[in-house]
Amino acid sequence: MKETERATIRTIAVIGAGAMGAGIAQAAAVSGLGVTMIDTDDAAVARGCATITSSLARLVGKEALTQADADQATARIEGSTDIGAARDAEMVIEAVFESEPVKTDLFRRLDALCGPGTLLASNTSSISITVIAAATGRPDRVIGMHFFNPVPVMRLVEIVRGARTSDATYQTTEALAQRLGKTPVTVNDYPGFVSNRILMPMLNEAIFCLMEGVASREAIDTVMTLGMAHPMGPLTLADFIGLDVCLNIMEVLHHGLGDDKYRPCPLLRQMVAAGNLGRKSGAGFYPYPAR
Ligand code: CAA
Repeated sequence: MKETERATIRTIAVIGAGAMGAGIAQAAAVSGLGVTMIDTDDAAVARGCATITSSLARLVGKEALTQADADQATARIEGSTDIGAARDAEMVIEAVFESEPVKTDLFRRLDALCGPGTLLASNTSSISITVIAAATGRPDRVIGMHFFNPVPVMRLVEIVRGARTSDATYQTTEALAQRLGKTPVTVNDYPGFVSNRILMPMLNEAIFCLMEGVASREAIDTVMTLGMAHPMGPLTLADFIGLDVCLNIMEVLHHGLGDDKYRPCPLLRQMVAAGNLGRKSGAGFYPYPAR
């Protein structure tokens, strides 16, 4: 691919087989792309594949997808525990833990591994794309592609341009998001971008309301579901996203914008320290008994 030209992506590697990585892999495979889904161990890859199988079954069950299309999508996904399997992809989409050192280290490794034409995208929900890109020798080919959970259902992709992201990289990424059936919205690289700059302080404020005894968890959630027509109340949504993820994003906003209005609620810190991370850990603001 020439640096100045928009390209059509046909193969991607997704790094990380958690809820986001599996969702991105599924959306890409359903859209006809070849996908390699990579995680560090077999159990994580197997969990990612199971997430995709049950999500596809759900879509088939409500006739949004035929069984044949679901089978073809499944066949387009290959799992791997070897990061070297990303080498031949035209684009790599990273969806690992929300930590700047973890992501910069990964992008350094991907930069060394992948051919010069490969685009490197991050699904980061708040970390600077410019900083991630600076860990590579190809900052013009690094971009943010921020998906929303559950990826098969949510239609938005926030496309984040770093300071040195090229127009060709941007156009290729925008076209890919459209191919995946998503609506791309472009934002500049700024802490929390737009989505989490607005969402996370709202969730954090709901946690302050709970901590200060303003109302019960159910009452807080009901105010927002019935009063504001949100599909989930803020405490339910925080549990759904993961309280560790929410805390990390609040830290990025607080540090990056330097304003105490973004300080993480002490109750959020305490719950993360206690390992009550929300739905994925079995307990958060609500209990989630193993099914
Ligand atoms: N795969 C496939 N389909 C799925 C699915 C999945 N993983 N999860 C839900 N669905 C489908 C269901 O089959 C159902 O489809 P129909 O309406 O066609 O029957 C539909 O989505 C709704 O699902 P449910 O009826 O089971 O449950 P619900 O009505 O409570 O909706 C929800 C579930 C879509 C998650 C909804 O509650 C919702 O939109 N919640 C808010 C989610 C949200 O805000 N996500 C963004 C989080 S922030 C983020 O991700 C980014 C970040 O940086 C932190």
